[in-house]
Amino acid sequence: MTTTTSVLSPVYPLGTRVNERGRLDIGGCDAVELVREFGTPVYVVAEDDLRARARAFVEALAARHGDYDVLFASKAFPCTAVYRLLAEEGLACDVASGGELFLALRGGFDPARIYFHGNAKSAGEVREAIQAGVGHIVIDSLHDLERVERVAAEMGRRQEVLLRITPGVAGDTHHAISTGQADSKFGFAPVDARAAIERLADTTHLDLVGLHFHIGSQLFELEPFRAAVRTLAALGDFPVYNVGGGVGVAYLASDRPPAVADYVDTIVAAVHSELGPDKRLLLEPGRALVANSAVTLYTVQTVKRNVSTWVAVDGGMSDNLRPMLYGSRYEALVADRPAAAADERCKLAGKHCESGDVLVRDVWLAAPAPGDVIATPVTGAYGYSLANNYNGVPRPPVLFCRDGAARVVVRRESYEDLAARDL
Ligand SMILES: Cc1ncc(COP(=O)(O)O)c(C=O)c1O
Repeated sequence: MTTTTSVLSPVYPLGTRVNERGRLDIGGCDAVELVREFGTPVYVVAEDDLRARARAFVEALAARHGDYDVLFASKAFPCTAVYRLLAEEGLACDVASGGELFLALRGGFDPARIYFHGNAKSAGEVREAIQAGVGHIVIDSLHDLERVERVAAEMGRRQEVLLRITPGVAGDTHHAISTGQADSKFGFAPVDARAAIERLADTTHLDLVGLHFHIGSQLFELEPFRAAVRTLAALGDFPVYNVGGGVGVAYLASDRPPAVADYVDTIVAAVHSELGPDKRLLLEPGRALVANSAVTLYTVQTVKRNVSTWVAVDGGMSDNLRPMLYGSRYEALVADRPAAAADERCKLAGKHCESGDVLVRDVWLAAPAPGDVIATPVTGAYGYSLANNYNGVPRPPVLFCRDGAARVVVRRESYEDLAARDL
């Protein structure tokens, strides 16, 4: 029986293997046993993998730059246990709403190391952020600036802020997750940033300490980071620079994202040469911190063979919206026999009442049959956070697996939860 990891795609979490029973094994836990105990769909996080990814970024940056922080852009996986784990690993945190702020605080992040983002923050959210003592609010537009200033003044508080710049550099990514181009809903174009910087020089309640940019998500090229850093240099000299842009992650075995060391090298070199070596440098690698750490498990409900082979599982667009939103591609396998020949070309469909509810449009599976467990890897980013109750489907639980032990960190929603807010 196969006991090596070699049959598995490298996109699975570290330590995932085919175990002695010939089944998929994540964090030392047999996937089929997990399904027996916890049901499907279920998000399974390999805890050691999540910690290792955080450490890789922190260690790479610590080796190259003195004053730094690595930020967890928490929109990718905003659950308390993930916040807690990444806070334990020493990361700082980016939140983009009052709700994410609430969760980050609950997860144990020091408010001083929370960065509050958003292109449409409400006055209430700004108040919550200042009240909580967040270290920095990231100003996104002139109206945002006015609102943050007004709220800080009303509260009699002084608040450190960063200014979000749209450097006019488009990352090589899907338009829906590109953020750095000139025509963007986020940030100030450099020409408008000057007016905001002057305006902030006159305010008594806000301290502008630095600049931020985020040039997009799922970036495979590093050159746009260099170009974006160059645009910051022209805007003045600040003590803090927050360089954002989600490093690409491998969703498919054929994807070749940049190595962590190359990503950090590129940014540190650009910052040192364009801005100076003595800056406080914040890195925001985005989903690369969490995406590959989780696998979603489903149970096959039906297999229908017409023009295609339609393998329908008990989840879909309610637990992974990315294929429908961005056309994102995933791998899948039968977790009961991952080493068996995957010789049937299939469409992996969800259970929802939409023809577009297809998780993987083209995948080879090993003799799929009702009752089989299907694994889709790389669901640690934007699976949980974009989950919804379409068709009244309760959202899945989250399990953390480590050394053969599984613990539920988010329970499955119940039917009662579906009606919990109804009056
Ligand atoms: C400031 C900021 N950080 C992070 C992200 C998301 O990065 P990723 O998609 O790699 O998780 C975004 C996306 O819009 C963003 O604006």
